[in-house]
Amino acid sequence: MINASLSPELRGPLSEAAWTLLRGGPAPQPGAVSVADPLSDDDLHLALYLCYEIHYRAVEGIDDRAEWSPAVIGFREELELPFEMCLREAFERMPTCEPIDVQLRRLIDEGEGPSLSSYLAHVGTREMFREFLMHRSVYHLKEADPHSFGIPRLRGRAKVAMLEIQHDEYGGGDPAWMHSALFERTMQGLDLDPTEGMYADRLPGITLAAMNLMSLFALHRRLRGALVGHLAAFEMTSCIPNRRYGDGLRRLGFDGDVTRYFDEHVEADAAHGAIAANDLAGSLLEDEPALDVDVIFGASCLLGLEARSAAYLIERWDRGESSLVSDGASLPIAEG
Ligand SMILES: [Fe+2]
Ligand SMILES: [Fe+2]
Repeated sequence: MINASLSPELRGPLSEAAWTLLRGGPAPQPGAVSVADPLSDDDLHLALYLCYEIHYRAVEGIDDRAEWSPAVIGFREELELPFEMCLREAFERMPTCEPIDVQLRRLIDEGEGPSLSSYLAHVGTREMFREFLMHRSVYHLKEADPHSFGIPRLRGRAKVAMLEIQHDEYGGGDPAWMHSALFERTMQGLDLDPTEGMYADRLPGITLAAMNLMSLFALHRRLRGALVGHLAAFEMTSCIPNRRYGDGLRRLGFDGDVTRYFDEHVEADAAHGAIAANDLAGSLLEDEPALDVDVIFGASCLLGLEARSAAYLIERWDRGESSLVSDGASLPIAEG
């Protein structure tokens, strides 16, 4: 169970309404949710994160039955609508007739924006790495869980390919090697608490949006193509950045126990990228060719949100500011 660490510092009417509703309070008045930027709004994404979290874990103070409460689902849908609409406007691309692995590769190669991994490898301080791990903890502590919702929604070779990837993500039969467990050790090595949800209320909307993107795709069967595209792009873009994150930590003097999470991904994701692009996405589209728009959409959303997130973090750090919400503490840039 997630403990009281997930008692969010609320950021506005939406997160307040979500927290009240999840804890058995009255439903907010129905109505269209309107925020300036649905891809990164702090209030919207904390609210959506809270509504999604109960599909993964029990949360202290929230009745398990809230997961399928019509009021919660109704409010969640109001939050999802502007998010998905904005994602489609920003990231939907027309597929071509080429094989899906070729299309995905081109999408990745055309990606713009600064490289967070190069930045951290070269100038990342211990404090920046701690913040980076806090941002990433929202997914990596439940690594692979969102995509597992896709398993019953796939068939034949696509299902087998998804399971092959997920088997590795879950440690290949050894719980100590689950990627989430490796990430816990990395967090502990940098004196962070690996309790799930511990840092959720310090994360900006742009970070929570990346997690909410996965949950949106995971929890709607109609978006199974986007879920597969997301996983394919995720695996295809993992090796080099993870090598750099490991290099950055080694530069700061951390040992193999701390870097293992990243080192493991350099190895594993070389294989996962090919399986995800060819066997998973390719087989899904042989089975359901009309999903090509969604596969490309899912990949494009991942790449687009990652680019925005990297730009946000680097901009904050370059100004000597913390990338976290709330405390506004400034970073000791010169350290390390
Ligand atoms: Fe992994
Ligand atoms: Fe992987």
